[in-house]
Amino acid sequence: MKAQELRTKYLEFFKSKGHIIIPSASLVPENDPSTLFTGSGMQPMVVYLLGEKHPLGTRIVDSQKCFRTQDIEEIGDNRHITMFEMLGNWSLGDYFKQEQISWMFEFLTKEVNLDPKQLFVTVFGGNEELGIGRDEESVKLWKEQFGSVGIQAKDVDFSERDGMAGGRIFYYGEKKNWWSRAGVPEKMPIGEPGGPDSELFWDFGIELGLHEKSQYKDEVCHVNCDCGRFMEIGNNVFMQYVKTEKGYELLPKGNIDFGGGLERIAAAMDNVADIFLTDLFEPIIRKLQEISGKKYDESEEVKKSFRVIADHLKASVFLIADGVIPSNSERGYFLRRLIRRAVRHGKLIGIEKDFAISVAEIVIQSYSLHYGELAKNRENIFTELKKEEDKFRKTLDNGLKKLEKYLSNPEGNLWNKVEDEVLKKMGVYFNDDIANLLFDLYQTNGFPIELAIEVVFEEFENKGFNLDKEKITEKFNQFFEKHQQLSRTASAGMFKGGLQDSSEETAKLHTATHLLLVALRNVLGQHVFQKGSNITSERLRLDFSHGEKMTPQQISKVQELVNAEIQANLEIVKEEMSLEMAKKIGAMGVFEAKYGTRVSVYSITDGSGRVASREICGGPHASRTGALGHFKIQKEEASSAGVRRIKAILE
Ligand code: ALA
Repeated sequence: MKAQELRTKYLEFFKSKGHIIIPSASLVPENDPSTLFTGSGMQPMVVYLLGEKHPLGTRIVDSQKCFRTQDIEEIGDNRHITMFEMLGNWSLGDYFKQEQISWMFEFLTKEVNLDPKQLFVTVFGGNEELGIGRDEESVKLWKEQFGSVGIQAKDVDFSERDGMAGGRIFYYGEKKNWWSRAGVPEKMPIGEPGGPDSELFWDFGIELGLHEKSQYKDEVCHVNCDCGRFMEIGNNVFMQYVKTEKGYELLPKGNIDFGGGLERIAAAMDNVADIFLTDLFEPIIRKLQEISGKKYDESEEVKKSFRVIADHLKASVFLIADGVIPSNSERGYFLRRLIRRAVRHGKLIGIEKDFAISVAEIVIQSYSLHYGELAKNRENIFTELKKEEDKFRKTLDNGLKKLEKYLSNPEGNLWNKVEDEVLKKMGVYFNDDIANLLFDLYQTNGFPIELAIEVVFEEFENKGFNLDKEKITEKFNQFFEKHQQLSRTASAGMFKGGLQDSSEETAKLHTATHLLLVALRNVLGQHVFQKGSNITSERLRLDFSHGEKMTPQQISKVQELVNAEIQANLEIVKEEMSLEMAKKIGAMGVFEAKYGTRVSVYSITDGSGRVASREICGGPHASRTGALGHFKIQKEEASSAGVRRIKAILE
């Protein structure tokens, strides 16, 4: 059976159990400002899990496109991908554990023919504080299933030290076996549904030697260690609770949310410990071999590049089909990173000419039968990919040339100038020159900052230099802060490996900060300048020069002005220019800040010439003010002599 058939088999199997097949929702969530992308099958189903009636009934089955930004850096191993298909079956207050566990076992062992000896299970071990006990009911049900095929399944309290301990069913705490969109129970907002879950793992076996890489080694290797011997293939969530002011209350009826990775079940089906060798990726890999003249398993590095390219370009095709276009903010920023990383890894395996479109063609061919939006958007997908690839190839070439020049004389350029004696003693390179170089790659050549860092690290390592990545990243952070090119929140998020999903909130608050500054200058006078700013995903804080406490009238006037601009739904436009030009066109800046010679300027404008605000700034921002909601000042207080502080929120 092919993986594409596996999807159909799953949908048909649950149809035979009374489920209605629904199409995948878009990767861009509708009416859900809390996340940038659809990252699980559950996301579009939340309202129904909370009790709203689904128009198609209480049993639903689907294959949902998912995109997870936090996985970008992890791509390259045998099982992580950014965009994947989550097979999902749903009981909306209908069947519960008994049916779910027996159907899932039947599907995996009878329909997909997985050998039950290679299947392992985890369950929730309970938590007294939450008042939720061990999931012994599921353990009993799994034992029955394994028993029916002659396997005596032993349940054990998981302990890292003991490894598998001869067990087949393992109890874990809420970090591993509790599911909500926000993660562990403490992180769930009020009103959020969640519950204990039971995960399924496939054992590729000890013969492959993957466990050798595990810090635990052979017999103490275990299902949740990350050596790659075990692979999670699915998760049965028993969605029974909702978080309320009073604690975790049982929902009127229990729901089932099963999510299984199509690509991973396919790998288990082939018993090949590499999802990139399933037929979901194989045609892409084959195409890449043809274009590059390299073999997929030539070396670990080459394999990694193949995997990055295959994942990233496939994800890009799906994202563009769902309306995302490459840009410097929010969703477009992730897409841009994907395409640029793919091009960069293409170069690493010797691809110098444009190739994204040929790969996209294969993706469209393989997936269009189930995802009609791909073929429908073919032209657009090609146009966006080509534009971004062209732009970046130039950037990359110039940047790499610059880097090459820089590295060709490390003694002269680097060693002599190493400022940090401690680092020098450790034999680790870092000085402001490198930071400058990075900054230049970012600013002049348009390298996304993570990529600039990645490229520089790689190039240095290839030349045999020993780099302390953590220290250097920390230094870069300081460097960027010093140069005021990125707001603190943006850079903190970016260096962690991408803008966090909550960045949408911070971006809106950031835009509100710009509007607030203008309103303050209008109400209080032109002596008002920004003295400091700090934004979390919940509120903004602005310090500004002003000698007296604001009156309640002034506060409400400022609020009114900001809200009027929000209602006008103005556009936020970013332009890059020389500092000189920015000053000439009246862009505000932070007085004390030292800027580079080229800066980004954000203008908030109605498109017909009225500019509500214009600031030198590193972003990120909302794309229109209409997205901001309602602006409210919560506090106005003294900060230091001659400086006032406002805290405000968007509701
Ligand atoms: N919603 C569950 C998950 O994403 C199935 O793991």
